Amino acid sequence: MSLLSIDKLNAGYGEIQVLFDVSLHINEGEIVSIVGGNGAGKSSLLKAISGLIKPMSGSVSFRGENVSRVPADEIVTRGLVHVPEGRRLFSLMTVYENLEMGAYNRNAKANFKRNLEEVYALFPRLAERQKQLACTLSGGEQQMVAIGRGIMAQPKLMMLDEPSLGLAPVLKKDIFAAVKRIAIDYETTIVLVEQDLVNSLAISDRAYVMEQGQVVLEGESQMLLTDPHVKAAYLGV
Ligand SMILES: Nc1ncnc2c1ncn2[C@@H]1O[C@H](COP(=O)(O)OP(=O)(O)O)[C@@H](O)[C@H]1O
Ligand SMILES: [Mg+2]
Repeated sequence: MSLLSIDKLNAGYGEIQVLFDVSLHINEGEIVSIVGGNGAGKSSLLKAISGLIKPMSGSVSFRGENVSRVPADEIVTRGLVHVPEGRRLFSLMTVYENLEMGAYNRNAKANFKRNLEEVYALFPRLAERQKQLACTLSGGEQQMVAIGRGIMAQPKLMMLDEPSLGLAPVLKKDIFAAVKRIAIDYETTIVLVEQDLVNSLAISDRAYVMEQGQVVLEGESQMLLTDPHVKAAYLGV
């Protein structure tokens, strides 16, 4: 049984539909990339999965239960955590306080200290900067806090929306390496939304390619790197 399974999902904003019959599945322990250009519907898909927008039709099931009508905070408590695009930190709060905000659900509260140690082990830089205000951090450090806040919620499945966006190449490498470590060390299943196809396919097992609100291709990440459509449309070769 898949950890997450989406069947013919249609969703959008008010009257405007942006996702069309999206079906996909994520197995426990996998890293799965969702790639595609700007406006393809990647962020909307994550919002629909995490309960931030309600589906028009279709289903989202997590751990065998249909969650398409479950409130967003309850979905987090059940272990499905969304690290949104653009980091969305509390800019006038410290690194520590931002991490604390990730731990508000009942399961995460019980293991607060252990989870915090895990975040600091993964990103030692955050331990050094615990008391610094989020707005004074570099882009890469802010992304570390956003991911760290996700870990504090103790996810079974973590969905990351463009974690490498806007970062210098060397920092991008650190972020992709951290994502891989989260999957391996903490046995967290990962959905990785990215526009950086090469790096995301390099660390993922499988991938889905989205265009205009639909899944147009899916397969093993290594296979997709050699797919003629992917090469022509996304890799410029
Ligand atoms: N809050 C919103 N209200 C209305 N339309 C939106 C909203 N957010 C995104 N969209 C539209 O949904 C489509 C998909 O956007 P998005 O999911 O953000 O794509 P991606 O993350 O792949 O760049 C776009 O056409 C975008 O304009
Ligand atoms: Mg997006």
